[in-house]
This record gives sequence, C-alpha cells and structure tokens, in this order.
Amino acid sequence: MSVKKAIIPAAGLGTRFLPATKSMPKEMLPIIDTPVIQYVVEEAINSGIEDLIIITGRGKKAIEDYFDDSPELEMHLANKKNTEMLNLVRDVSSLVDIHYIRQKEPNGLGDAILRAKKHIGNEPFAVLLGDDIIMNGKPCTAQLIDQFEKYGRSTIAVEEVPYDKLSSYGIIKGKPVADSLYVLEDIVEKPAPEKAPSNIGAIGRYVFTPEIFDCIKEAGPGVGNEIQLTDGIRVLSKTQKVYAYEFKGKRFDTGDKLGYIKATIDFALENKDLKDDVLEYLGKVLSSEDTPFRKMLFEGMKQKDALTKIESETFEVEN
Ligand code: G1P
Repeated sequence: MSVKKAIIPAAGLGTRFLPATKSMPKEMLPIIDTPVIQYVVEEAINSGIEDLIIITGRGKKAIEDYFDDSPELEMHLANKKNTEMLNLVRDVSSLVDIHYIRQKEPNGLGDAILRAKKHIGNEPFAVLLGDDIIMNGKPCTAQLIDQFEKYGRSTIAVEEVPYDKLSSYGIIKGKPVADSLYVLEDIVEKPAPEKAPSNIGAIGRYVFTPEIFDCIKEAGPGVGNEIQLTDGIRVLSKTQKVYAYEFKGKRFDTGDKLGYIKATIDFALENKDLKDDVLEYLGKVLSSEDTPFRKMLFEGMKQKDALTKIESETFEVEN
C-alpha cells in the first residue's frame, strides 16, 4: 500500500525562540520570506502525499490562516494589479487539502501523533516534524517512502549527531543491513551522551505502519513524563522490523537558533535575487581589515576572548 497520508505535528510551544514565539507559532518563522512550515508541506507534496494532517494547539491559528484563502489581501493585490504577488498568495492556499487536529495540551510528540489515529485509519503514513528543513533534489520523505515500498516496514531518517548534541535526539542502536540502511535494535530518547547507544540520531522524518499507534499507547509516558514517539518506536521494533535510513540531503534544524541562521544564509545564497548582494556582504564582514575582531571570530576565536584581546591591544597602544 502506498503512503498518501502524512502528519505534521506543530503543537509545540517553541520555547527556544522566545520572545518571538510568545504570540506567533514557531512554524511561522520565515526563512527569508517563506514560513518554515511551508517548506515542510512542500516536501510532503513533492513526496506524493495527498492528505495532510497538521496537529495544532492553542496559539497556532496563524498556521490555519496562512494555508487558507485571504479574500481581502487577494482583492487588494488584484486592485493594484500586482499579479505576481497575487499568484504567490493564491498558490499557498491551493497547495493541498490540509486537515487540522488540536492537541489540547502539549503532552509529547507521541501523544500529538495519537491524535491523528482515527484520520489515518489502517494505512501507512509519514510524519514530518515542523522544525526540520531538508534540502535535496529527492525529498527526504520520498527517500523513506522508497525504502518502505521495498521492505514494507516502518523507516526512520537518521544522521550522525555531534557528541554534545546527543541528548537532544532519539539515538539508535542499529545493525547495518544495506547501503545507508540499519535494522533498528534499540532507540533511546535524549540519552546522556555517555549512555547513548551510538552517535546516530533520528531527525524529524518517519514513515510508519499503522501498528505504531498501539505501540505508542503501550509505551506510556517517558522522558519528561510525556508520551514519546521514540518509546513507541522501540515497542514497535520488538514485534516488527523497523529500519533506520541515512538520508541524502542537507538538514537544517530551524528550531535551533544557529540552525535557523544557517538556513537563512544558505537559502539566501540559493536565491538568485539575493545571492550576489549577500555574498558581497558576507565577504565584507569576513575580510574587513579594520575589524580585527571579526577576523578573529572568523578564525574560530571565541567572542569573549577576541574582545579581551582587542581591549588589551588598545590599552597597550594608548599607553
Ligand atoms: C523530537 C524527537 C526526537 C528526535 C528529534 C528530531 O525531539 O522526540 O526523538 O530525534 O525530534 O529533531 P524534539 O526536537 O521535539 O525535542
């Protein structure tokens, strides 16, 4: 059975981006001019998904408005004969059929996914976390669907994670079985680095058989007393093979400040109207001779050390 349905959990509070996310959903933060969630929705569509469920919560109305028609704005743009913008705005609302389900209170990723059980029914489905943007010719979700079609089993996307970030991910223990493919032997949610079973972490893309729902329920609350998807995956792997696939592509964790900045820079460099000006500006920032501070930063010196060095040099010159 092919994968036509997908869930995008978007009910999280976005505390890493406060205060911006106090009154706006983190999924609506723009990379240049496009909200993060649009990239995720486009990945789903480009992977063959036809039926999309977004799990929202309180304070997430802007997401529904964004993918809806906006008659006043459209009329305004039509009156101004701004056809380019008008088409852009209309394209967004005609992307795909989206259904919204509310998670009444944040209770973990596993719980958010359980909210969609009735809508999914007895079919395989994809999950795309709203924070991750993955750049690649063939979308990451489509790569997972290929694996699913080959083996007929749940497959999660993974990549190597730096040691100091292991405690931010679900970390797998896997047995290599083919190129870039492991059979899952265990998965642990946010382990202390010294206890992590490997350095390979689950990023925000998954394809599941419907049995995952009962496994999430069976697993019950885990880390932070929340219902964790990772625990459900571990239960599933005891009765059904689960695969972990090292996807092709470049991933940005836009839920993290540095990841967000990196995504903005990379997307600006991919944008033909911005590329040259941005490159020129970055070149100036990095090479400007009258700003040794910036040069030191470029050479990897910590900001504090660089400031101390400049201060002491200025003091020596003055005296
Ligand atoms: C979630 C999952 C975690 C996964 C991560 C990927 O964590 O619980 O297993 O590795 O997404 O981004 P979160 O980032 O929501 O804390």
